[in-house]
Amino acid sequence: MFANDMETIKTIKAMRESVAAARRAGKKIGFVPTMGALHEGHASLVDAARASCGWVAVSIFVNPIQFAPTEDLASYPHPLEKDLELCRARGADVVFVPDVNEMYPPDRPRLTDVSIRELGDALCGRSRPGHFTGVCTVVAKLLNIVGPDKLFLGAKDYQQATILRRMILDLDYPVDAVVCPTVRESDGLAMSSRNAYLSAGERGQAPALHGSLLLAAEMIRKSRPPAEQVVAAMKEFITARAPAGKIDYIQICDSESLRDVPETRGLVLVALAVRFDKARLIDNIVVE
Ligand code: PAF
Repeated sequence: MFANDMETIKTIKAMRESVAAARRAGKKIGFVPTMGALHEGHASLVDAARASCGWVAVSIFVNPIQFAPTEDLASYPHPLEKDLELCRARGADVVFVPDVNEMYPPDRPRLTDVSIRELGDALCGRSRPGHFTGVCTVVAKLLNIVGPDKLFLGAKDYQQATILRRMILDLDYPVDAVVCPTVRESDGLAMSSRNAYLSAGERGQAPALHGSLLLAAEMIRKSRPPAEQVVAAMKEFITARAPAGKIDYIQICDSESLRDVPETRGLVLVALAVRFDKARLIDNIVVE
């Protein structure tokens, strides 16, 4: 369907040159940042970029500074050839695959961080301190390298998308953030690179996370019960159907500020994180 002349670029300098050439050709630049181990969720972001931009760049970079020492940096999957194949098949023009020394030169220890105050401490920030500083710092760098017109993010990482949208506003990046819907397996499990860590038994239980979100949405739409009632029902649902999972959090929040709300009125975000043996999975739903 697409021409096969996709470029793979490793250096910041070459990436800047490639973007500059696309700009000279009058193209609108779409950008999809990823850490690789691509799945249909990422592919849907490339599709969205392809549909509204004349030139599409994907980055694949497993960003070490967004992992805590106890997390899965060393085991994070790197199926580069397969990832490049997916990007080519979905019509990316360029894939930026810098190595860690290109992004964080060892002879120039980084002195600058981009961090975002309370939005970064909510939800996942509580059990992953510093994570969103790592995300903001690398995305700020990538935006400066690529200079896209549009940035494509997935709604599964709702907090990440909210934080990056705010960073873009606060720091006046001239880019539109486009948040695309979560892509799910046929049984409702949100697609994630970390699903690969699930054992067969855990994989069978994991759709309960989405099931609990649907239950929450139904309760809220029906009778707007207090948030704690919804959280209790979700806990019961997950504990019964996914006994291998340990609930990290289930929270009902304001969809913009990410602050907990006691009532389920207005637009609310229902978000959760559940830990299985090797995989910590997140999911969410926004209910009107
Ligand atoms: O969502 C991800 O894969 C990463 O957090 C991102 C946005 C590519 C930054 O490393």
